[in-house]
Amino acid sequence: MGEYGPGAFGMPGPYCHNGPVTRASLDKQPHEVASMFDDVAERYDLTNDVLSLGQDRRWRKEVTKAVDARPAQKILDLAAGTATSSLPFARSGAYVVPCDFSLGMLQVGKKRHPWLPLTAGDATRLPFKDDTFDAVTISFGLRNVQDTDTALRELYRVTKPGGRVVICEFSHPTWAPFRTVYTEYLMRALPPVARTVSSNPDAYVYLAESIRAWPDQPALAERLRKAGWSKVAYRNLSGGIVALHRGFKDSVGSAT
Ligand SMILES: C[S@@+](CC[C@H](N)C(=O)[O-])C[C@H]1O[C@@H](n2cnc3c(N)ncnc32)[C@H](O)[C@@H]1O
Repeated sequence: MGEYGPGAFGMPGPYCHNGPVTRASLDKQPHEVASMFDDVAERYDLTNDVLSLGQDRRWRKEVTKAVDARPAQKILDLAAGTATSSLPFARSGAYVVPCDFSLGMLQVGKKRHPWLPLTAGDATRLPFKDDTFDAVTISFGLRNVQDTDTALRELYRVTKPGGRVVICEFSHPTWAPFRTVYTEYLMRALPPVARTVSSNPDAYVYLAESIRAWPDQPALAERLRKAGWSKVAYRNLSGGIVALHRGFKDSVGSAT
């Protein structure tokens, strides 16, 4: 995911359906988030591909390995957008359900991948029964969900006992000198660069702020535990620019 512009890195685009918005606010009203993703849907994947310089592909490969989908397993790809993040699971022979609350993203996904069971649903009220999926995963989406903890509990609810969660999200570089450079870059260099290349420089500010405001790796791990997940662990990618968190839902009868 890598555009430093509208539609990438989980960043909504410049307009909502009620008119132009200068910048997405960090309190993320769900209808605003859905509308903004509706508007960037057509260009979303292309922009990510071009501007991430291949990093997003590497991160997606790591997600695929971590989820380790097997034939006939049921996988939920939450906040799937246009379902690009769902394809590797389908290729492994699993039954993947891409779910998102932006109808615009889902429509583009359906045009491109008509065979996938794209499903409209809000992360905080998932339209699935308890204990449905062998694995649940969310890539570059959790940061956009207004109520993270409710989403983590919902993911837990719909996972079968013994099942797993994998979360891929922007995080915080672990090496202090790099973290400083990266934060400076996000907060200072990005907006001026954006002004020269983008019609929507304010969106870059939202990107920088939302990444900065996001919990760091141990804090997100703790929130997973609080939502019920056990054996929670995480792994940094690209020095912590991205982190993969995983956890398990205990099998029936095992200690929590
Ligand atoms: C940056 S996109 C990621 C798409 C895809 N997972 C990928 O990796 O390319 C973030 C997605 O999160 C979705 N989203 C945000 N909040 C949501 C919510 N509460 N319920 C469902 N989807 C949500 C947006 O509609 C958007 O499609």
